[in-house]
Amino acid sequence: MNKRIIVAAVASALMAGASVAAEVEVLHWWTSGGEAKSVAELKKMLEAKGHKWKDFAVAGGGGDAAMTALKARVVSGNPPTAAQIKGPSIQEWAREGSLGDISDSAREWDKLLPKVVADAMKYKGKYVAAPVNVHRVNWLWINQDALNKAGGKAPANYDEFFALADKFKAQGLVAIAHGGQPWQDATVFESVVLGVGGAKFYNDALVKLDAKAIDSPTMLKSFDTLAKIKTYIDKDAAGRDWNLATAMVMNGKGGMQFMGDWAKGEFTAANKVAGKDYACVAAPGTANAYTFNIDSFAMFNVKAADAKKGQLDLATAIMSPEFQEVFNLNKGSIPVRPGVNKAKFDTCATKSMADFDSTAKSGGLEPSFAHGMAVPSATQGAIVDVIAKFMNSNMSSKDAVAALLKASKTK
Ligand code: BGC
Repeated sequence: MNKRIIVAAVASALMAGASVAAEVEVLHWWTSGGEAKSVAELKKMLEAKGHKWKDFAVAGGGGDAAMTALKARVVSGNPPTAAQIKGPSIQEWAREGSLGDISDSAREWDKLLPKVVADAMKYKGKYVAAPVNVHRVNWLWINQDALNKAGGKAPANYDEFFALADKFKAQGLVAIAHGGQPWQDATVFESVVLGVGGAKFYNDALVKLDAKAIDSPTMLKSFDTLAKIKTYIDKDAAGRDWNLATAMVMNGKGGMQFMGDWAKGEFTAANKVAGKDYACVAAPGTANAYTFNIDSFAMFNVKAADAKKGQLDLATAIMSPEFQEVFNLNKGSIPVRPGVNKAKFDTCATKSMADFDSTAKSGGLEPSFAHGMAVPSATQGAIVDVIAKFMNSNMSSKDAVAALLKASKTK
């Protein structure tokens, strides 16, 4: 073949490639061991489609720091291509006109996703975000050796829970491994409300923000329970990252931790096995309920064709059965769509899948308040402030209820 023709052919092939391969900047807060392994799978899958992954990782569990960084970037007119945004916040960003339509990747999604999930990913009927998983929040993680020494029975209610905490203390452990950060405080609080009051009360108080439910003896009892929990947390908890609290449970310094199943991602990354090294059980009193937390990536408005192609490829990758399998095995969560190979999922994940299905049918499937699934972000922020203040002061339960009622009216 004529040399000029070859050069021209190569050049045009390169240009064709260049017109579809994009640099895709992805904002997320997955920086712990298990989280980093999970996000690496997404990067791999995007790169396999010929795109370049630009990592915009903002450390800080729960995503508070990431959301601050995101706002700054959007305000300066330079949003990332995609960002880890979830729940009602997706609607907030879409209402601002910031998000782009990814329907071209989502033709089948209505058939694959539970309706509540599909609705959360759409704005005015168009998909603007892609869901990666379902995390369960109302878990308690327990060091298996310590539990065996204490008789082997996981606590089903708060009486049993505090009895076990006393035994852990007697073993010389920090009974409750916790990190004193507002989102972690809120994570414990919502499981306590669910355990003390049940799913309907949880929904009335923390989803509907019903004043009667908030200003009630059950809410008082929830704060009293939280106050008692505080007494089993060590003095060094202030500011501790959640994964360091998980590490305490892992290495036998801590007895148990309230945390969503991203904690399982940490156990898995450390080659720890459920039932052998640690136990995963529903938080006290919440066996028949399930607080869900769905991670998703929202796509920002982009003009360039290559960037749009990058977003569509990212969305397609996220919803593929292959990605849902490998990502969720690492992340500790379960797939958000059917048709994923379940063979490698462990007992905690299998339990999560079964409980998700049963609570979806019988009632008890509730959006996580602490993880941005239940109420607008401003209201959530105001309530979390109250919980954090309660955790870090001698505020009475009565004053906490009054403050909570006031905060719940924040718009
Ligand atoms: C996210 C998880 C994440 C956790 C800790 C949660 O809000 O949904 O994906 O692992 O925060 O950072």
